[in-house]
Amino acid sequence: MQKKIAILRGDGIGPEVVEQSIKILQAIAAKYSHEFVLEEGLIGASAIYATGDPLPESTIDLCQSSDAILLGAIGDPSFDNNPKATVRPEQGLLALRKSLELFANIRPIKVYPEIAHLSPLKEEILTDVDLVIYRELTGGIYFGQKEKTTNYSSDLCIYHDYEIQRICALAFQEAQRRDKKLCLIDKANVLESSRLWRRIVQDMSSDYSDVEVSYLYIDNAAMQMIINPSQFDVIVTSNMFGDIISDEASVLGGSLGLLPSASYGSKYSLYEPVHGSYPQAAGKDIANPLATILSVAMMLQDFGMRQEASDIYRSVEETISSGYVTNDLDKSKNYKCSQVGDYIVAQLLEESTIILS
Ligand code: IPM
Ligand code: MG
Repeated sequence: MQKKIAILRGDGIGPEVVEQSIKILQAIAAKYSHEFVLEEGLIGASAIYATGDPLPESTIDLCQSSDAILLGAIGDPSFDNNPKATVRPEQGLLALRKSLELFANIRPIKVYPEIAHLSPLKEEILTDVDLVIYRELTGGIYFGQKEKTTNYSSDLCIYHDYEIQRICALAFQEAQRRDKKLCLIDKANVLESSRLWRRIVQDMSSDYSDVEVSYLYIDNAAMQMIINPSQFDVIVTSNMFGDIISDEASVLGGSLGLLPSASYGSKYSLYEPVHGSYPQAAGKDIANPLATILSVAMMLQDFGMRQEASDIYRSVEETISSGYVTNDLDKSKNYKCSQVGDYIVAQLLEESTIILS
């Protein structure tokens, strides 16, 4: 099979975690005789430094002419504490999501038993955790009208019915394939936009009568995620609540460095780790590449390459169980980002040339 993949390394640790994923793609291509045509584009702070624009037109063109997009991370501290900055790296990511209409962001949360002890939560709380978050990605407070004067600012949270229906349809269908439980997380006791989400989910539920629907306010959900996370199967929620609850849920697995994601619209698909650009680690070869590598597995799965994807899942599990991991996963280990990448490639190619030290 031949596939063209847009490679957007982005900022901070983005380039190095993407580098490991490229090795994985090359190994899969060699093993299964596929051809992956990889073409690189600029986004985020690196694009601002090079062109002044966080999302150059050429990057959008590249993404639109590719079968899939792999993105590293976006963000640069030199913009973070500068409220006067007129252009920001994150604008590149938000504009890309919006221009490709990537309205559904899927974030699966899995706990690997070998590293459950790394989570700050008690191991018994983590038994049977297996959930997936469907986060709406192109609407809500992120994209509503913004106003700024010298003495007030405002961000409008606006949702249209069709924006809610299309993500909820995907979430209902996913629940049907899984444990048939769907939880809408909102703030319907306060927000009009949340009441619309609730009404739409209620209306849609009759078309998915095999799915048990529940509703939680975001504040309660944040607590439930810590005290009883195994109650969740599929979560569906708005852009901002999904952003927050998914970082919280990453704690269950022991590291944000393990969470992959896929974003879908009607035409394009983008794969990226949930974590950010982790600038303190940039260039040090210490970042965990597994979230990005698992995002590649989601991409291959969507290409219909099921065996290839399951090879990656198996290799990542093997890496974790053999303790060949970066420092975030095991403080006693200092394997480099690139070493973990090499180890997974060796697993994929079933070479046993790497000796654990
Ligand atoms: C995420 C990130 C982004 C978001 C930032 C970098 C704009 O936190 O993908 O979760 O808020 O959506
Ligand atoms: Mg986030």
